[in-house]
Amino acid sequence: MKYLPIILLALIGISCNTKEKATPQEKTWWKEAIVYQLYPRSFKDSDGDGVGDLKGVLSELDYIQRLGVTAVWFNPIFTSPNDDNGYDVSDYRGIMKEFGTMADFDSLLKGLHQRKIRVVMDLVVNHSSDEHEWFRQSRSSRTSPYRNYYHWWPAEKGKPPYRYSLFDVNHDAWMYDSATNAYYLHFFSRKQPDLNWENPKLRDEVYDIMKFWADKGIDGFRLDAFGFAAKDTLWPAFPKGYEKNFMPYYSMQKGLHDYLREMNSEVLSKYDVLSVAEGAGNSLQDAHDLVDADRHELNMAYPFDWIDVPKPEGYDLVKLKGIISNFDSAFRQKGWLAMFLANHDQARMVSRFASDAPEFRDLSSKMLNTFILTMRGTPFVYYGDELGMSNIRFDRIEDYRDMPTLNEYQRLKNTGGDLRQFIENLKFGCRDNGRTPMQWNDRTQAGFTSGTPWIKVHPNYTSVNVAAEAVDSTSCLNYFRTLTKLRKDYPTLVYGTYTLLDKNNPDVYAYLRELDGEKILVALNFTDHKADVKLGLTVAKAGRLAGNYAQPIDQKFDYMRMRPYEAVVWKLE
Ligand code: GLC
Repeated sequence: MKYLPIILLALIGISCNTKEKATPQEKTWWKEAIVYQLYPRSFKDSDGDGVGDLKGVLSELDYIQRLGVTAVWFNPIFTSPNDDNGYDVSDYRGIMKEFGTMADFDSLLKGLHQRKIRVVMDLVVNHSSDEHEWFRQSRSSRTSPYRNYYHWWPAEKGKPPYRYSLFDVNHDAWMYDSATNAYYLHFFSRKQPDLNWENPKLRDEVYDIMKFWADKGIDGFRLDAFGFAAKDTLWPAFPKGYEKNFMPYYSMQKGLHDYLREMNSEVLSKYDVLSVAEGAGNSLQDAHDLVDADRHELNMAYPFDWIDVPKPEGYDLVKLKGIISNFDSAFRQKGWLAMFLANHDQARMVSRFASDAPEFRDLSSKMLNTFILTMRGTPFVYYGDELGMSNIRFDRIEDYRDMPTLNEYQRLKNTGGDLRQFIENLKFGCRDNGRTPMQWNDRTQAGFTSGTPWIKVHPNYTSVNVAAEAVDSTSCLNYFRTLTKLRKDYPTLVYGTYTLLDKNNPDVYAYLRELDGEKILVALNFTDHKADVKLGLTVAKAGRLAGNYAQPIDQKFDYMRMRPYEAVVWKLE
């Protein structure tokens, strides 16, 4: 035993048994990883065209290394006409022109590996681009060998049963194509036709693509929208209005687990890779089934259940804690979770989960980063959140770039919807808020590009930027570095159990992480006012590991009064 248990614990109101031994989780690099999600379009532009690129990333490898992260997940960098910023792939083995060349990618992979940073790539195979050669062939004739790579409905049978499209301007997922007098299916945009996973040839093509990248040496795959890959191709009619809650009809349909098992045996099992799907089905059971090691499918779940809790009018912290704690219990013995509060499909975490008001932005960004980096589950940190980047809140539709947002605006315009309210809602939720250029310094365009950026830079770049934060020992950036170091220094933060404390506290999220007698307490005030937390702990001695206020909190462990957005991490001895 590494540490002698020298504390007395009198736990009141604790939801689980903290005396429980550490979970019998086998140790792996991807459980210990700290993943940095990098949106290449917005990270760093090396050639002045206003679009981030691989050479840009290459020039910042030391920055990434100094963050203390151990893996980078790249959003798609493959050849694409960019209807959906690379989530419409026209060549899975090519690199998007704006981003550079395969030689650039090879240098990037090498440079990251030299720094002991792993590389995770997006795999977008629920759909391809309509400009992919497979689709060109498929649409050319009903007898094309590629016809069954996609889903077609012959028009002589009349209109196909309604399918909701998430991105289409009319929300109709069937698009008529006159070349063969048939409709093709697209759950996302018209330029993102869904691939037919029932076709073994298509599946083999995908496995070959995966092997191509795994053989290059990448370390993981993030399976985009893969929960939607299995479809009932008898195309039954769905109940009227199902689109209001379409997930049970779209996600985790029959066949999906078979595809994953096959993918595992054909590819994943042959490489030491992280495999994580976007979303985790419709229930805790679904999430668990995806990653239960005995089932040989994926190895990490990425559920959205807690991500949508924040609303513009605020949210219930008890509910958030409940959802996350339930997930933790379900994954206590087997299976593994990703832990995150933001990604490229969300607005900025500080603007949604805490406060980006000038007096709180820095404090509350630090508080949320504390959460991600001290929870059980592999942390996924979204680029810019280490600086405390926040929502840009464009007022004009002309500033938005996101295709589904522009389509929805058009639809509302066509149908006489409330455009003013729509724009208001975008300020809180639109994913463009999370895609503004990385803020490197206080020079033109925040040092992101020498040209005109593809999307505007947040005006707060003059103070919120890497250069300024690097030289400020109290900055969010340096606090973030302290936390990544902490996570590496204390395996308790990776493998230790998680116990929620004071579970019905509406303001404070507090929990204990424990491993082999070592105990780490984390307490986070999620509000802009002082808040009390009843921890019910009697502690002999404690050491402060991190905190976002310079002046340490009064250390009383039965009861604490926390300052606005305060975060504290203590080792209890
Ligand atoms: C996933 C991606 C999102 C994309 C969509 C369609 O949800 O994360 O960015 O628009 O799939 O590929």
